Amino acid sequence: MATSFMGSLLVMLCLVSPLLLAGAVHSEPWWYGLFPQFYDRSCPQAKDIVRSIVAQAVAREPRMAASLVRLHFHDCFVKGCDASVLLDNSSSIVSEKGSNPNRNSLRGFELVDEIKVALEEACHGTVSCADILALAARDSTVLVGGPYWQVPLGRRDSLDASIQGSNNDIPAPNDTLSTIITKFKLQGLNLVDVVALSGGHTIGMSRCTSFRQRLYNQTGNGMADVTLDVSYAAQLRQGCPQSGGDDNLFPLEFVSPAKFDNLYFKNILSGKGLLSSDQVLLTQNAETAALVNAYAADVDVFFQQFAQSMVNMGNISPLTGSQGEVRKNCRRLNSYH
Ligand code: HEM
Repeated sequence: MATSFMGSLLVMLCLVSPLLLAGAVHSEPWWYGLFPQFYDRSCPQAKDIVRSIVAQAVAREPRMAASLVRLHFHDCFVKGCDASVLLDNSSSIVSEKGSNPNRNSLRGFELVDEIKVALEEACHGTVSCADILALAARDSTVLVGGPYWQVPLGRRDSLDASIQGSNNDIPAPNDTLSTIITKFKLQGLNLVDVVALSGGHTIGMSRCTSFRQRLYNQTGNGMADVTLDVSYAAQLRQGCPQSGGDDNLFPLEFVSPAKFDNLYFKNILSGKGLLSSDQVLLTQNAETAALVNAYAADVDVFFQQFAQSMVNMGNISPLTGSQGEVRKNCRRLNSYH
């Protein structure tokens, strides 16, 4: 009896000790990873606080839902989902807010501040800015009619930012599809993620400057993009002149711009994707074209994949354990004076 007990103990030790050792060597415990219950003990109100502030904001201005979804995307594609996008310029930081994709375009920073103040009041120094972005993106999606998913949590906030990363790693609206796919691959995301996540353009707005080239001079021959529906192009030219009006706003999906649905994909099928990067999903690759068709045909298939791909995106290189910090103010490092 005693021997068999000792035997089991020995087997247990053999199994467990390499895991403990691995933890010791890498300085992080071996079990670290993101999980939805991360704040259940340390800040049980966290999810409710985020949801209620996002809900009030979206009720005031439906576009805020789109802006918050995009904020999480632009965070995750630069050094991982670490809230680097939220840091302001300072003596040690060149803010990503000044990069080409973000300047005069990215929105929602004040709302994140508002959420952070409420969370600091409820649970001081506990909920990271990176997790706020992930939760706000999910809540925004649900609030405007999109799918729900459980958000893995436990990200920590970066100690730096990368304006170069922001300029180079976030896809641009005139990139070819193969460049876009490469930029997603760099983040560990595949072609299915490219198409499903592009479906985020079923809500929100774009400035004229982001698609003007398609209206006047797509390939340098002074002609409009041939893949763009002719009457839609004529309509767009009215508000987006050849010069000037850079910041004039247009819905990315003109039929139901404030509702999360699959009309983005239906519009692409009729040549009415707004950005070149939207339309190329149909015209430059047979595999992505098949996915556009599938999501246009069945909203549930799109919703299911969008939810999964948002989790995939939210898992890009998080800081965990003792890496980074939990910022008290999302715009500054805790060491900032
Ligand atoms: C596939 C490559 C992508 C490209 C080239 C792209 C490009 C753009 C551009 C140019 C705008 C308009 C910005 C402006 O003119 O101010 C925009 C807006 C937006 N993007 Fe993307 N995007 C991409 C992927 C994504 C992904 C993965 C998401 C989220 C899942 C997303 C969500 C949004 C949303 C919601 C808006 C509207 C934001 C607002 O109204 O404030 N995009 N995107």
